[in-house]
Amino acid sequence: MKDAINIDKTSIADIIDYGDEVGLDEIEEIEQRSYQVIQRLRETVFSPDKEKELRRTFSITEAAEMVGRTPTAIRDAEKDGRLPESAKDARGRRTGYTLEGINKMREVFGTLPYRDTNKDEVAIIPIQNFKGGVGKSTITVHVAQYFALRGYRVCVVDCDPQGSTTSYFGVNPDYDLTEEDTLYPYLSQEVDTLHYAVRDTYWDQLKLVPANLSLYGIEYELAARLPNNPKLLERLRTGIDTIKDDYDIVLIDPPPALGMISLSVLRAANALIVPVRPATIDFGSTAHFFTMLIEALRELREFGMEPRYKFLKILANNMNEGKSAHVEIAKMMQQVYGSQMLNTIMKDSAEIDNAGGRLMTVYELEGPMTSRETHNRCKAYLDAMCEEIEVMVRKTWPSHRESLRKEGLI
Ligand SMILES: Nc1ncnc2c1ncn2[C@@H]1O[C@H](COP(=O)(O)OP(=O)(O)O)[C@@H](O)[C@H]1O
Ligand SMILES: [Mg+2]
Repeated sequence: MKDAINIDKTSIADIIDYGDEVGLDEIEEIEQRSYQVIQRLRETVFSPDKEKELRRTFSITEAAEMVGRTPTAIRDAEKDGRLPESAKDARGRRTGYTLEGINKMREVFGTLPYRDTNKDEVAIIPIQNFKGGVGKSTITVHVAQYFALRGYRVCVVDCDPQGSTTSYFGVNPDYDLTEEDTLYPYLSQEVDTLHYAVRDTYWDQLKLVPANLSLYGIEYELAARLPNNPKLLERLRTGIDTIKDDYDIVLIDPPPALGMISLSVLRAANALIVPVRPATIDFGSTAHFFTMLIEALRELREFGMEPRYKFLKILANNMNEGKSAHVEIAKMMQQVYGSQMLNTIMKDSAEIDNAGGRLMTVYELEGPMTSRETHNRCKAYLDAMCEEIEVMVRKTWPSHRESLRKEGLI
């Protein structure tokens, strides 16, 4: 019986050259693997199973690390007037640097990591799954803030009518927004650029296109108009085109269903991150996701809009270490998916959940909500996950090649 559940030993890495573009053929391969996981699961016995502001500031040591210069270099620049005096409290003690202050330092020292707009393509990455509750919004917001902390110019496009990502940024989708503030006017061809919808957040260099329930309406409107006008599926892509020069990375939080908006998201994207929960029940939906993704890409192909992705990575999110079933599925996924998976497995963390309860991310917390140890551990794997994404994005940018080489990353 054991033999029967042994899957083909060829790892996906042998079939797909890591780093290559990904299209329908490769995704079909992944889909096959997903069904193999399901089969394994069946055959293995599992146990049952108001205005927000960024309060966080940074010490000179943290600032130095973020900026890529020594504390002495920062102090010297403050002394000779290249940088403003650091903020001090009534007793003359430094109160810490804001992210804005740190980006100012990066500008002065020439260490802003921006892409070269002439050579490097903006990264357009949805955290995509057609299922709710897998952590799409949580991951979107954390990845966005990680990139902002690193000094990139980030735009988050909330395409989910539920507006969770919008809420994370302190905008109440039901009270603070009308449909005119969302993607609605652009997608329904009332306007020619997306600039009207882009708003500042309380994070430096991080902008938001918010969403609210009115976006449900666009699903029906697009579906009704599509037969006569398939180009409507290009709207999100062309919309992002109108704003992309201002950003290094555009992150998209898609709706938890396959519809017109999700099709538009798949068309607009040039890479995908697919969060998955390593739990028995949820795994079925992962295989279904790839089946549906294939259907969606075939449909786009029929319209002559088949996308190619620079990378597609599956992310195991919300793994509960205390549950042997979770640990086993995560391990199995690593074996089966190979390099199509992010190396970092995002654990189920009370820190993320508790921060989320306050509509905050772990990156916004001034101190631990649970214990110092839990907080640090959680931040360590968040950083590891985001860093993997950062490196993949930078690998798509020719202008970063030399620095990646110096850093030993290629
Ligand atoms: N790694 C994690 N650890 C703990 N809780 C998590 C984690 N990822 C997501 N969650 C929680 O799971 C719930 C669903 O996440 P969410 O991002 O809203 O999913 P989606 O956007 O896919 O519907 C939220 O309560 C969130 O706080
Ligand atoms: Mg969500």
